[in-house]
Amino acid sequence: MQATVLWVSVAAIAIVAAVFFVVIRSTTASASAQSVAKSAGTIRQILFWGSLAGGAALLYVTLTPWPHALPGEADDPIVVTVTGSQWSWEIDTPEIPAGRPIVFAVTSTDVNHGVGLYDGNYRLLNQAQGMPGWTNRFQYTFTEPGTYRLLCLEYCGLAHHEMIGEITVTSSAANLN
Ligand code: CUA
Repeated sequence: MQATVLWVSVAAIAIVAAVFFVVIRSTTASASAQSVAKSAGTIRQILFWGSLAGGAALLYVTLTPWPHALPGEADDPIVVTVTGSQWSWEIDTPEIPAGRPIVFAVTSTDVNHGVGLYDGNYRLLNQAQGMPGWTNRFQYTFTEPGTYRLLCLEYCGLAHHEMIGEITVTSSAANLN
């Protein structure tokens, strides 16, 4: 995704540079005001309809996967309640099976925390805000057994960095009971 964004940006920069180049090259040529107005009108029309078509295509591509399944809609999810307090996480089910949808229900007893779910290589898998008096949910299905971590993503005081929780994901075969 980042590589795609990079190349799209490079292409956009190249197009803008090309436009600048053409404009600079054409500054010496003289033309009547009428013909300039006419070609400007044509360019405006192309830009308008092009933007409209491009925007519609973008909307179609980005909005068709919606609506996303809401947390809890998956078959037979396991609900794991994660409660943040200065400065630790309380996880009611610290051992969960791979291959089952897990709904993380995140809340807080004091201030706003942010829970980030990380794999063993500290790659962020999902996240939600832990807010007092409110429960935010996100869903994740683990495919690999191992140790996963919950790190606080919202600065919440002196020992914010100490808010590290651990989740053990066991192989799904071990949990077929
Ligand atoms: Cu809790 Cu930062």
